[in-house]
Amino acid sequence: MKKVTFGTPESVVPSRYCREFRTEETPVSYPVSRIRFWKNDRGCVLEFPVGTEQFFGFGLQLKGFNQTDKELILRVNADPRNTAGDSHAPVPFWVTTGGYGIYLDTARNIEVQTKVRRASDGQTVMTVQIPAARGVDVYIMEGKTISEIVAQYNRMAGGGCRVPEWGLGTIYRVNWHDPQEKVLHTASYFRENEMPCRILGLEPGWHSHSYPCSYRWNRELFPEPEEMIRKLKEMGYHLNLWEHAYVSPEADIYEEMKPYSGDYLVLDGLAADLSPGRGREIFAKYHREALVEKGIDGFKLDECDNTGLVEYGWKMFPYCSRFPAGMDGEQYHNLFGVFYMQTILEALEGRETLSQVRSAGALCAPYPFVLYSDLYDHRDFIRGVVNSGFSGLLWAPELRHAASARDLIRRLQTAVFSVQCLINGFYCEEVPWKAFDCEGEVRELLQERERLIPRLYAAFCRYRETGIPPVRALVMDYTLDEQTWTIDDEYLFCDDLLVAPMTEEEEMRNVYLPEGRWRDYWTGEERESGWHEVRTDRIPVFERI
Ligand code: GAL
Repeated sequence: MKKVTFGTPESVVPSRYCREFRTEETPVSYPVSRIRFWKNDRGCVLEFPVGTEQFFGFGLQLKGFNQTDKELILRVNADPRNTAGDSHAPVPFWVTTGGYGIYLDTARNIEVQTKVRRASDGQTVMTVQIPAARGVDVYIMEGKTISEIVAQYNRMAGGGCRVPEWGLGTIYRVNWHDPQEKVLHTASYFRENEMPCRILGLEPGWHSHSYPCSYRWNRELFPEPEEMIRKLKEMGYHLNLWEHAYVSPEADIYEEMKPYSGDYLVLDGLAADLSPGRGREIFAKYHREALVEKGIDGFKLDECDNTGLVEYGWKMFPYCSRFPAGMDGEQYHNLFGVFYMQTILEALEGRETLSQVRSAGALCAPYPFVLYSDLYDHRDFIRGVVNSGFSGLLWAPELRHAASARDLIRRLQTAVFSVQCLINGFYCEEVPWKAFDCEGEVRELLQERERLIPRLYAAFCRYRETGIPPVRALVMDYTLDEQTWTIDDEYLFCDDLLVAPMTEEEEMRNVYLPEGRWRDYWTGEERESGWHEVRTDRIPVFERI
């Protein structure tokens, strides 16, 4: 890995806030001297030499996969409906089939063209405009495979996250309006019907006020939260609470947080400054004392992804905002998810979790949080799984409602074979499979998830030590196999599984098995490498032998 500094980097950069940030300086063969750098009125520009290599990464891209020949503006956006770079979790890190990957240490919305021709000499180059900045640190990593390169990037951030075994079990989020009794009823339903579920999640209704958040129990719906938590624990559940960081005047911490908030309100609440400092301490201490010490094991950190860009009719803090610690709105948008995860980990004080967050960014491998979205296209969700591994991110392709039993089962299959098996019933009157005649199949799938936990747990341990993520696009391990360069609907899961989910519309699908020997995970039948036509009601899964 090589670090090269161009110009004068900004002081607000992701590495500064990454506690375990460390680099392993080694010589690289990348032609560093051919990188061009200049400043312009809009900030600064980097120009990289490129050849025939293919590009991947740039964070959680739900719509795009192979980024060769693309134009992207990396921008945090809760509603990423196109391939232009908007993302819940944009990351200024890309990997290539050319044996190298590059990380730019910036909290700006970079503008990228992965291949463009210079007028002066016809050379093909990659350009990156960094707004506002007068310089940047560039980290170049090399490896034979993309997995090796990504592993270095993740180790640079401190290695993959530690997760508890229970965090890998199914999590069910109950209806937003469910009262205490109904929550307990749902909890019993899973137990009585032998449907494994380890975590229950409460949605906005648990707050006395949720947009903005009070972080206090709604006593009408939850007259005795302590009693409910005790009963849930007795049944073996862990509990997770929804929230966001726009603080309501009803919140106990409102007055204290005032000086530690951005200069624009969101939903008439304070936009908490959760960068390291007093504001974070207040927020974390309150969460620890009021919630964690009362038995809460995790949180769902919503709306930290520039939600105002969605047509909800409410506005996010603008890019011109100032936050007390000195950041502007653009920088804060890019770091908000990271700060929020760090704050909650401080509140948890070393207790393990696998929680949810709707925004993340650079150097996020160490955080035990999965990303999720309000989008719901199953193909996009599968692509999210495939892409997440390029950028040190975890993504949960959650199940909510379904159009048919087949749609429900297909979606649940994908959730079962992903890092977190998340069922989000936040607007469902009852568990989503009640509407269809498929409880038996759901039970089998949830039991399959339990059987997968030891394997997945081992993959997380490896992630922690080596930086190799538990979910990888085929091109990450089989980088030089050109077939893999466009496969955005199959992925390697844990150490040695290959998963090829199917959607409701598909009667059959083609599955590519890269070089090596494989066997069908369900039937044990051996398969040669190459393309296979697969027709099954199960999710196609193969095991490397
Ligand atoms: C959304 C979130 C959903 C659900 C909902 C509740 O922002 O993405 O998963 O929690 O809020 O209002």
